[in-house]
Amino acid sequence: MCVDLIKLTIDGMEIEASPGTTVLNAAEALGIHIPRLCYDPSLSSVGACRICVVEIDGMRNLPASCVTTVTPGMVVRTDTPAVIEARKTILELLIANHPLDCMTCEKAGDCKLQEYCYQYGVTKGAFTGEEHHYGLEENNPFIVRDLNKCIVCGKCIRACAEITGKDILDFAYRGFNTKVTPFGNTSYIESDCVFCGNCVSVCPTGALTEKQMSGKGRRWELKKVRTTCPFCGTGCNFDLNVMDDKVVGVTSTNGPINGRALCVKGRFGWDYVHSPKRLTRPLIKKNGRFEEATWGEAFDLIATRFKEIKDKHGPGSFAALSSARCTNEENYLVQKFSRVVMGTNNVDHCART
Ligand code: FES
Repeated sequence: MCVDLIKLTIDGMEIEASPGTTVLNAAEALGIHIPRLCYDPSLSSVGACRICVVEIDGMRNLPASCVTTVTPGMVVRTDTPAVIEARKTILELLIANHPLDCMTCEKAGDCKLQEYCYQYGVTKGAFTGEEHHYGLEENNPFIVRDLNKCIVCGKCIRACAEITGKDILDFAYRGFNTKVTPFGNTSYIESDCVFCGNCVSVCPTGALTEKQMSGKGRRWELKKVRTTCPFCGTGCNFDLNVMDDKVVGVTSTNGPINGRALCVKGRFGWDYVHSPKRLTRPLIKKNGRFEEATWGEAFDLIATRFKEIKDKHGPGSFAALSSARCTNEENYLVQKFSRVVMGTNNVDHCART
């Protein structure tokens, strides 16, 4: 079906956009970055933070570009003195009740609030008043929650509902006391949270951080290595965060299969990588005790025993169970080996239910 495109002008540049496109997305298509705190392309838009305001001819106020859709002939300006002044005021209001411990904050270097304050030259002091003094929530193995750094953008609430489908978070209380919390104002560990960490991946500040990454390196020092999760056959992508050749964490990337979503195993179950309990050499049991062996000795023993079993009990005595954690090529080899070498079709896979 042919859809009539809408013509508009943004910062003097003409663009055609499909009906329903937001001003923020149309600007992005022109290479104009509009700041955003509560907007995320994988979540519904609510227009909560107002940092994305722009000037539009004929509109009295400065509308939030993430929830304003394009209309024919619209003339938008994203960088006028009024827009900049409004963004500065929003940032000043946000940091009036923010710890500003950026020198030790785990999110420093990857914090949108810090980035925009730097960009707009905003420092604390324009507004003074009451500040929150919530205790740090770290009574679970995966997520540190510091509500003093929460800007109440609601992205974690939407990520929990729209990405994970759990819906355990919501706003509680009113006005200055508004906070994001699981039902009953409990901690994550006391709630139905499954610790997928999708809330952490969308948090624009240091309110939600990965516990395992705490103190392991500044965000800008971490090398990101994109890889595919080995835990199941879904094939989710994520970034391994590597410091001094050691994995120190997993963060979301925009994977073709999973977008930014991950489960608890993918995001937090990587610590086995450097476990001293991992086998690095083959072990052969001799006289009831495991002893280190060479790969040659191990393969010889396996081949001899497989042959003995096949000769004595027949091919049907052998079965192979493979795993979704292996690659397709490895699984192919397992079935090929079973059929051609062992002579049996007794092949199965952990992902078959
Ligand atoms: Fe548009 Fe928050 S990013 S209102």
